[in-house]
Amino acid sequence: MKTVGIVVSTLLAELILMIIFVSLGLYNVSTMSPDPGFLRWIFSHTSDNSAKHYSAGIAIPSLTDSTMIIKGYQRYHELCQTCHSGPGLTPTPVERGLYPHPPDLMRSAKHMGANRLFWVAKNGIKSTGMPGFGWTHSDKQIWSIVAFLEKMKNMTPQEYAAMGQLQAKAKNVDMKMSGRKNERRR
Ligand code: HEC
Repeated sequence: MKTVGIVVSTLLAELILMIIFVSLGLYNVSTMSPDPGFLRWIFSHTSDNSAKHYSAGIAIPSLTDSTMIIKGYQRYHELCQTCHSGPGLTPTPVERGLYPHPPDLMRSAKHMGANRLFWVAKNGIKSTGMPGFGWTHSDKQIWSIVAFLEKMKNMTPQEYAAMGQLQAKAKNVDMKMSGRKNERRR
């Protein structure tokens, strides 16, 4: 009985200390004040293992279609590059200012399966700055980004820059085609 009393009062004391710590705002949430190592370890392992667990059953579609890859590049360029940079690019102030820092997706794509890349891009990661694009984009659109990431993981800076030109050409062809359709309609 005495031991139970000691355990309960210790837990109560810890709870009260925690409430005081939180209420006084003593934990420094500044991105310039890194988390203690053990907390960072808990946060990063929690998100890694959660993504592994929830993405395990996702079936991967074919990701080799070149139109899909070009569309994926366009979306990567618009939605991801500000935070994750790209081959040969200098990190933006947004990327440098986020804590935890957004990882290099060339490296991530080398060690992660496409299902996990898809799950993270779709769902995001709470309280890290990584948005969930499932709120605004269809699965098909998100898979196109994954198809591009699978290519990007082995790209040189020159090849990445060339993707921009390829995409601009594809956009031109698209615009000409829809222009012709509109002419026919008139
Ligand atoms: C506003 C900034 C921001 C944007 C925009 C963003 N991300 Fe992230 N992303 C992050 C941060 C921060 C992390 C690290 C989260 C963590 O440490 O748990 C991250 C992590 C990831 C990871 C996990 C990688 C790993 O090695 O664990 C993937 C995959 C990812 N992002 C994909 C994307 C894709 C694809 C896009 C665009 C469709 C995107 N992100 C857009 C900030 C961003």
